[in-house]
Amino acid sequence: MRKILVIGVGAGDPAYVTVQAVRAMNAADVFFVVDKGDVKDDLVALRKEVLDRHVTSPGYRVVELAEPHRDRTPATSAGYESAVGDWHGRRAAMFADAFATELGPDGVGALLVWGDPSLYDSTLRIFDLLADRGDADGAVPFEVEVVPGVSSVAALAARHRIILNRIGRPFLVTTGRRLREDGWPDGVPDVVVMLDAGCAFEHFTGRGMTVYWGAYLGTPDELLVAGPLDEVAGRIREVRTEARARKGWIMDTYLLRAP
Ligand SMILES: C[S@@+](CC[C@H](N)C(=O)[O-])C[C@H]1O[C@@H](n2cnc3c(N)ncnc32)[C@H](O)[C@@H]1O
Repeated sequence: MRKILVIGVGAGDPAYVTVQAVRAMNAADVFFVVDKGDVKDDLVALRKEVLDRHVTSPGYRVVELAEPHRDRTPATSAGYESAVGDWHGRRAAMFADAFATELGPDGVGALLVWGDPSLYDSTLRIFDLLADRGDADGAVPFEVEVVPGVSSVAALAARHRIILNRIGRPFLVTTGRRLREDGWPDGVPDVVVMLDAGCAFEHFTGRGMTVYWGAYLGTPDELLVAGPLDEVAGRIREVRTEARARKGWIMDTYLLRAP
């Protein structure tokens, strides 16, 4: 049967790639790369660097797939979830077609996933959609193996030398959009924020919080700011705005810690 390896390659530094990931990469015949056609060429370049550095077995192929259209206009979480659902359906069809045409019956394909595949990444959800579809539209069966990677959250904690939870307490990982819409969660003293298109932390000033912020973690452009939120919120906004303008994109993650 065809096999697809979903390989977490870490969130930035090529040295985040684990020994298990290297072994998995060297077992793959075909790497499927989704070309997002956007400004994040740096991310595609980083993935290529990972392949160049770690794949020693010759003869692998790279198949580029064009990212299906995604509606990014919805203003609410409900609209956002439905637009993402449609987009996942189109991505599932794209992968089904690629696996059938590019892999032999016992071929091994691989997808390099940024950070860790278990965290805000749709690859495994899309493969569940494919499993539900069975062999509709000529889709071929395949098994999936997952290799964990160093997530941006792990990188953030390591760079600030912090533990994400207080002793015996929970922490929440959420998106900037959700935190803005839902407000601070009850009974949770620590919140990790990802996918924040704005500066959701600004809604939580005046409460004695501490922030640990990081952008482009693990890359030569890495930026770190930490301190009392009331004192550093303005600086984070400035640094973020300047970096985003200079590079054309930004990926940042932060921990908000209630007193
Ligand atoms: C689609 S999610 C993917 C997360 C990824 N699977 C992981 O394990 O980190 C993208 C978000 O992850 C965070 N992120 C990923 N890489 C990052 C990095 N190198 N530095 C800071 N944040 C990062 C940002 O919040 C970004 O908006």
